[in-house]
Amino acid sequence: MKIRKNSIAFCGVNWGDEGKGKIVDQVTDAKIFFRDNGGSNAGHTVELDNGQNIKLHHLPSGISKTNSTVILGKNMVIHPKELVHEIKEATNFFNNQIADIKIDENALLCLDTHRAFEQTLKDRKNGCQGSTGRGIGPAYVDQLHRFPLTMKDLLNWNEKRISDHYDFYQCLVKGLGKEISEVEVSFSNLKDKFKVGSKESFINNLKEQADILKKYIEDIYDFLKQNWEDESIKFVFEKAQGVGLDLRWGVYPDVTVSNVCFDGFRASTYGIVDPNEIERRVGVDKGTYASSVGSRKLPTLMPEQEATLFREYGHEYGATTGRTRDIVYKDLVALRFYINNGDVNSIAMTHLDSVFPNIPVKICVEYQIDGKKVDYRPDQEFLNKVTPIYIELPTWDREKIQQAKTFNDMPKEAQDFVRFVEKETGVKVNYLTNGPKRSQIIQL
Ligand code: IMP
Repeated sequence: MKIRKNSIAFCGVNWGDEGKGKIVDQVTDAKIFFRDNGGSNAGHTVELDNGQNIKLHHLPSGISKTNSTVILGKNMVIHPKELVHEIKEATNFFNNQIADIKIDENALLCLDTHRAFEQTLKDRKNGCQGSTGRGIGPAYVDQLHRFPLTMKDLLNWNEKRISDHYDFYQCLVKGLGKEISEVEVSFSNLKDKFKVGSKESFINNLKEQADILKKYIEDIYDFLKQNWEDESIKFVFEKAQGVGLDLRWGVYPDVTVSNVCFDGFRASTYGIVDPNEIERRVGVDKGTYASSVGSRKLPTLMPEQEATLFREYGHEYGATTGRTRDIVYKDLVALRFYINNGDVNSIAMTHLDSVFPNIPVKICVEYQIDGKKVDYRPDQEFLNKVTPIYIELPTWDREKIQQAKTFNDMPKEAQDFVRFVEKETGVKVNYLTNGPKRSQIIQL
């Protein structure tokens, strides 16, 4: 298999919230940052060493790199109002020193109409349970209806299609007993909820946003192809969410609807990028534990008393929704499944400073049903039946690991833990994070 030099990709290999943003932000000095899935359901915080931080939702972490280009790719679902707000915030936060932004003209629109429909289904308890409320599911479903709105509809201002779209969603919502204009929807960067409003105001608002975003929307094919063919140009590919949230590999109902795995890059780059040619395909994995939001019941759920320690230390509350995250013991059975099916060939381990005195690091190494070893399966009823088999490794000194600059500086117990995970997954660990600051990253 040919390997395309100077290319690296990142995805989460737990259930999202692994700390991908910080890794991407720190380890890369690329020319092109490419994101291709999800929308404002994602949220990552970029924290400066002075403690100031910004929460990004649509924009890849590469936004802070001047002389680079960030691409919002074809398979994203973009909410124009939020994106306008986010670009403004990022421009101020980074003192106008931001990357060039290109939005693929075929990227999908995710609008208040989608949010209203999702909210109506949620209220009826007929679907979208546990979703972030950002309308992500309905926006992707438009593709299956073969009536999606795309960025091209903003660029060429196709008012007829936009008007038809509003009418269609009005019918859906009305059929479920509500008036779309009256439904309140939420936004990632704003605390308040707002009514969708009349068709006229919906169209006028969208027109304003289209006028602002126009300069970023383009046919990216030639730019992508020329740069990909020049192997001196470094590419970073950034996925949102995590393999445990993938429609195919996760457990209903707490799955998102986009392709969160590297194989999605083939379609979102019009076949230009063969994901298997990407030199390093990094799965970002929370080191000593993992977290999950939603109603799924993971086999290795931690008892609340211990979970509280991890939650408070790691600020385990959703960056987009503020929801409290469940905390689970490290689960190597699920991790192996996500690594294999996610085509991951390198691991970045985050939160290695999440350790507590006298509490061993508990790791699930095997699932059993009736005493017989079984593999992971994305099926809640199956997972309810498994008994996790654990081993315990000795904990390590938090202060010592926080100060480490190299692998060899790390406490011996932490080094052994990393080597153990490598042995169990068959994949090399290339990056570690040992604290929240930008500088607290170790490369192996
Ligand atoms: P949706 O993506 O809003 O449709 O939500 C579907 C499921 O994915 C819900 O359980 C969400 O909590 C979860 N989810 C979506 N995005 C993220 C993320 O970035 N981190 C963690 N969970 C997420």
